[in-house]
Amino acid sequence: MTTSDHPVYDPSAIPRVDIDFMNDTHNDEIRLVNALGRLITACQSNPDCGETEFAAIADALQEWRDHSHAHFARENELMREFGFPAFPVHSGEHEAALGRLDALIDAWRTNPDIDQLASFVLEQWPQWFENHVNTMDMMTARFAVMQGYQP
Ligand SMILES: [Fe+2]
Ligand SMILES: [Fe+2]
Repeated sequence: MTTSDHPVYDPSAIPRVDIDFMNDTHNDEIRLVNALGRLITACQSNPDCGETEFAAIADALQEWRDHSHAHFARENELMREFGFPAFPVHSGEHEAALGRLDALIDAWRTNPDIDQLASFVLEQWPQWFENHVNTMDMMTARFAVMQGYQP
């Protein structure tokens, strides 16, 4: 079982990339995921956690999914604009991540399992996010700036 009072992700630990709108989006996402993380850990330590709490978690998941969709769409657009050579790899990671979020939301709505959700949100996703920002986002931002990106 995953329980923690710590935020899912310390906002000051998010890797910085060379383009501010990307950093801002990452900060917003971390805020949403930390809020979701608080709902999850509160549910885990509440023996009465039930329909009301499950619905609040479903809403937070949906908000995160919508935010991710906009986040990834904007980065995909940036890559297209500057002809980023690794576009298929980076956009492929986005697509796979959205697919995982969709599956997670479906699973939560049909058969809510708080420990399974906690394992994804608190353990697997932070590793994915850090790795993605450190590689794909970092390279994309650097490339766009080298190609003359202006904020
Ligand atoms: Fe990103
Ligand atoms: Fe990305």
